[in-house]
Amino acid sequence: MFALMLTSSITTVLLMVTSAALAWVAYEIYSQNKRRSKEIAVDGLLEPPTPVRIPIIGHLHLMGGYEVPYQAFSFLGKKYGDIVKLQLGNVKCVVVNGQKNIKEALVTKGHHFDSRPNFQRYQQLFSGNKENSLAFCDWSDTQKTRRDMLKAHTFPRAFTNNFSSLESLISSGTRSATSEIKPGEVTHLKPIILKHCANIFLSHFCSKHFSTTDENFSEMVENFDEIFYEVNQGYAADFLPFLMPFHRKNLERMNLLAHKIRRFVEDEVVEDRFDDLDVESEPNDYLESLIRNVRGGETPSLPWDTALFALEDILGGHSAVGNFLVKVFAFLVNEPDVQRKIQKEIDEVVGGDREVTIGDRPRMPYTEATVYEAIRLIASPIVPRVANQDSSIDGYRIENGTVLFLNNYDLSMSDQLWEQPGKFLPERFVKEGRLIKPEHFLPFGGGRRSCMGYKMVQLVAFGILGGFLQNFTVLPVDNETYRVPIGSLALTKDTFKFRFARR
Ligand code: HEM
Repeated sequence: MFALMLTSSITTVLLMVTSAALAWVAYEIYSQNKRRSKEIAVDGLLEPPTPVRIPIIGHLHLMGGYEVPYQAFSFLGKKYGDIVKLQLGNVKCVVVNGQKNIKEALVTKGHHFDSRPNFQRYQQLFSGNKENSLAFCDWSDTQKTRRDMLKAHTFPRAFTNNFSSLESLISSGTRSATSEIKPGEVTHLKPIILKHCANIFLSHFCSKHFSTTDENFSEMVENFDEIFYEVNQGYAADFLPFLMPFHRKNLERMNLLAHKIRRFVEDEVVEDRFDDLDVESEPNDYLESLIRNVRGGETPSLPWDTALFALEDILGGHSAVGNFLVKVFAFLVNEPDVQRKIQKEIDEVVGGDREVTIGDRPRMPYTEATVYEAIRLIASPIVPRVANQDSSIDGYRIENGTVLFLNNYDLSMSDQLWEQPGKFLPERFVKEGRLIKPEHFLPFGGGRRSCMGYKMVQLVAFGILGGFLQNFTVLPVDNETYRVPIGSLALTKDTFKFRFARR
């Protein structure tokens, strides 16, 4: 009897919930139609099409069943048109598909869409204030200053002292990394690559170098990697803040790691240089540029805390390059032909008597193209933008505060734009012996919030890849599968292992 009563009350509740959901859907369809016709009439802008949504979660359920949400965005683009409005939990969003529309958002109207999402997680990851972060802050004079100061260091020009210093740092880092490889043995490559990338970054930006057996240094590299993995994850809690308590422990751990990194940077990287620097002299590295700015050598000056966050963000770029390189090797394990072509290029251009250097890039388009091809296939997303005012894209209204997902996954993987997009074919980026970059290839975003590290990625990845393949052929390890995760640069700590055969 009790069971029967329970069943019938469950049925009643289910009926009520179903009726409420149906009523909601009917109301949604009705109000969409009403909105559309009304708003075209008011200002000539169209309301972007939007699928029917569900109470509380909005359209979050539409992201299910895909390897990455950007695949869902491509599907929605095909179904509803290039510009699609979504309500993801409590966040109003617009998906922008298509090269022309993405360029409108990044470049033509870049100043309308130069903020970043205000996810609680970003706030908590940067000491309670996402404005401390170079990549997740909104646009401001401070951000302009930070970007301007970085340019000379992250985009060193060929034939300058800065470039040749970076060239020898990459060569010596590559030499040390290859010397740690034991041919034929199962090699956990990620820790080796990360440490050498970290030393290249620390030497280039701060003129500091650490022994790879230094425990504090090794811990710092691991801490950066763990945080890098975290910031690359997307969580439902970003859109449904009531789920944040489930992430509390994890975020506390990230704060602890960030705190340890800060201690390392202050004690072992900056040391006494803040007080000792002669601010009248030309800065020798990025750290000195920051100190000069903070101590009033330039206007507007940054608070020291802000400068330290910027320094840590840039040093953390080594995790991006290191993880990316491990993915490049994981692609190459399945591509012996590509390895042979790179090695042929190395043999023809460099020979065996000297090392590959980043100065060889103009004569080694195939090796450079391999870096591009890996970036294309990983299809990591453009960091979402946010509209700082009411605006439009392709004639569709975008309200102030809307989060924009710019679908570069589609630009990288569309069979309308690439032949055999699923295949690893570096030659697609080489034409008449020169590297080409198609206009629709936008892995580093564009406009005033474009990636500040893409040159470092190209230079360091080229140098290390060239140096490894000059000396070794990369081989699989028994029972390991090499399926490279897409949609993010980050890899887990315990990732692919390889074997290296000496050439
Ligand atoms: C393969 C590796 C990398 C990829 C695919 C990548 C891609 C991107 C993308 C798509 C953005 C957003 C651009 C936009 O909104 O238009 C970005 C922002 C940024 N990247 Fe990278 N990046 C990589 C490595 C690096 C490295 C190594 C550094 C540092 C040396 C770096 C520094 C930055 C910074 C500071 C921003 C924020 C710029 C801003 O918001 O003003 N990136 N990156």
